[in-house]
Amino acid sequence: MKIAVLKERAAGETRVAATPETVKKLSGLGASVAIEEGAGEAAAISDAAYVEAGAEVCPAAKAVADADIVMGINAPDVMALAGAKPGAWVAATFDPFGQRERVDAYAKGGFEALAMEFMPRITRAQSMDVLSSQSNLAGYKAVMAAANQFGRAFPMMMTAAGTVSAAKVFIMGVGVAGLQAIATAKRLGAQVSATDVRPETAEQIKSLGGKPVFAEGLEASGEGGYAAELTDEQKAAQAEMVSAHIAKQDIVITTALIPGRAAPRLVSDAQIATMKQGSVIFDLAVAQGGNVEGSVADQVIEKHGVSIMGFSNTPAHLAADSSALFSRNLFNFLSAFWDKDQNKPVLDEEIGDAIRLTKGGEVVNQRLSAAS
Ligand code: NAI
Repeated sequence: MKIAVLKERAAGETRVAATPETVKKLSGLGASVAIEEGAGEAAAISDAAYVEAGAEVCPAAKAVADADIVMGINAPDVMALAGAKPGAWVAATFDPFGQRERVDAYAKGGFEALAMEFMPRITRAQSMDVLSSQSNLAGYKAVMAAANQFGRAFPMMMTAAGTVSAAKVFIMGVGVAGLQAIATAKRLGAQVSATDVRPETAEQIKSLGGKPVFAEGLEASGEGGYAAELTDEQKAAQAEMVSAHIAKQDIVITTALIPGRAAPRLVSDAQIATMKQGSVIFDLAVAQGGNVEGSVADQVIEKHGVSIMGFSNTPAHLAADSSALFSRNLFNFLSAFWDKDQNKPVLDEEIGDAIRLTKGGEVVNQRLSAAS
């Protein structure tokens, strides 16, 4: 059983899908691990550290040669898989809805594409959930980046020269990233409020020391613990609440997503115009269409005296930790299904059917078929 890890090719990607820790653990299962030279460089992992952990470090083609499983952060181009075993697994994120041609190419190539972002949100799969692990770090980084951009301090400070007041931070969207953003802003001493469209998040906000700010009667819970799209009436109610609240805020962090759709628009240009000079908005959803009017990925846009920012790949700004967690998610996934007798993982139906995109030359995923 050979597992290969390639250097990520996407622009701005700094993460890597295995660390020396997971190389050791995978070897402990009975696999051999081959890593492309320089794969960990941007995440501060040297080739020597991989070798010390027991991996073979070599050029890409050699790493992939005869591989049974290829692991990635982003699924590699199918051309990069030449030489892998027929039917080899590729465990990575695929952006299956956005990159449908790549899924078709994997089917054509005879590979078994396993989309880690389709991992079901069930208790036993929590440790394999890359969306959660990466969102958590992204929520933290969004607050840190906004704090860095902000020309004032977060905590209240009483100094001999006078008092500095605490920053007011408003988090919109309280999923995994939003919860971590609340916790991070609180730790920095800010006054934190937050909103969502799922009513159960009100208690979660309070438990982290934040203040829930909800539009009256607004509820849009969808399937699987996710949000549903708002009706026009609900959108108007939410916009009214946001307009009333946002003018008093120093920092706004938006994290709202709806599965399979463009990110909902939460903050308009007119609302930004009511904010104080020097305020900062961090749009964590900028790569999915953006929650904030006028946000541009990887740029700081100044409008009405407010800085609007967001990263195209927020976890990539914390390469070492995001690689460590992503790699553990992959290890937890493979080890949970490892069959000692066959010396390979054997997936069960619930998780296998959810994440498998292609097999035996066909696209086999129900979610994907339902969307096309
Ligand atoms: P997400 O990234 O899809 O969305 C972020 C947040 O935006 C969500 O809280 C959503 O309700 C909110 N949102 C959507 N539209 C909005 C709007 N118009 N206005 C304000 N907020 C809006 O969500 P994420 O982080 O993936 O979490 C979704 C749910 O899944 C949560 O309930 C989370 O606790 C749950 N979950 C369960 C896991 C498990 O049991 N294994 C693992 C991870 C998450």
